[in-house]
Amino acid sequence: MIGIKYHATFPLAAGALFVAIPYSISLVAQWLYGWPNKPGYKKYIEALKPRRIYCLTRAVLEMLKYLQYGKLYFQWKSWYKNVNNNKHCVKGITFGRRGNKLDLYHSPSMGQPKTGLIPVIVFVYGGAWGSGERSTYCLLALQMAQELSASVICPDYSIYPKGNVLNMVQDISDSLIWVRENGHFFNLDKDNIVLIGHSAGAHLCALTTLFLVEGVDELFIEQSQQREITNSIKGIIGLSGVYNIMDHYRHEKMRAVEYVSTMHKAMDGIENFDYYSPTVLLQRLNKSQLKRVPPIALLHGTNDIIVPVESSLKFSEVLTSLSIPVALYLLPKMDHTKIVTDLMAPERHFYHTVFACIKQECRKCIKPC
Ligand SMILES: *[C@@H]1O[C@H](CO)[C@@H](O)[C@H](O)[C@H]1NC(C)=O
Repeated sequence: MIGIKYHATFPLAAGALFVAIPYSISLVAQWLYGWPNKPGYKKYIEALKPRRIYCLTRAVLEMLKYLQYGKLYFQWKSWYKNVNNNKHCVKGITFGRRGNKLDLYHSPSMGQPKTGLIPVIVFVYGGAWGSGERSTYCLLALQMAQELSASVICPDYSIYPKGNVLNMVQDISDSLIWVRENGHFFNLDKDNIVLIGHSAGAHLCALTTLFLVEGVDELFIEQSQQREITNSIKGIIGLSGVYNIMDHYRHEKMRAVEYVSTMHKAMDGIENFDYYSPTVLLQRLNKSQLKRVPPIALLHGTNDIIVPVESSLKFSEVLTSLSIPVALYLLPKMDHTKIVTDLMAPERHFYHTVFACIKQECRKCIKPC
């Protein structure tokens, strides 16, 4: 009897493991985040293709890795809501045309005698243009302020569906305008700003700067003011960034996540991919505009499967070919999330590795840090 029972359960278990579970996981993912953009019933045929099911299940299971950040999650949650920590920062300052909020973390030198104006880091978080919030990065911003002896601004921006990529670029520009107009209240050096971004945030840092250099009308900021803001950006540091949207779309396609991803929606469709790609945008700048592009440093983990290292490699090649100063750091064994989560506490594995690169680059472009 036991033998028969075993023979009956085994195929059932195998069926559940290799068919029912993957199909359920990937259908729920597509139901939640978007079906393939094929007409009528064809989208379901596309959605049910075994390769798509296999890849999507893999992508979902890869997200189980985030469970390792459980402890860190509680650390940043409790740090952020503890009022005793308010001496380190000013939270929830409203800025810009869409009323987003930013947090400001003080440099450790703030309030000490003989402190001059303090350089400013604007940290732009990632989250595939469709997720993320500033409070998540409180521990990172705190460490960054200490490591770099700078004040750190962490702005929210209008992630999709609240806004599209152009709105996000406008929001990041607005956060820079906020620094320039209100910095003196906090002893900030409004002419000494470095942008640091992760993933989609690195894309937004590069794109915002290039839009400002070009002086595009869609920012709805006066040309002279755009020029002033550009001059105050002394450097950009991109962590695991996306710099060519079409290349990244191809990579998403390979992982079969292109329809569940927010990217194509946030970019207003494939026809705008080139317009919002820093690698492409650079090619249409003339000599005098190229001269005004600040130095750029690119850090990328070689174990990154979400944004492959080729993204930073290609961007650095384009920058080099146009004689824009660029530094490229390929970091072995590092993946897409560790490059940023490990900056949240000094005991984390890659903390010193990544901060050493960031410090070195900051020293090149702003004075005291
Ligand atoms: C570069 O382009 C800008 C904007 O189109 C223009 O104002 C400027 O004169 C151009 N500079 C050169 C050197 O061509």
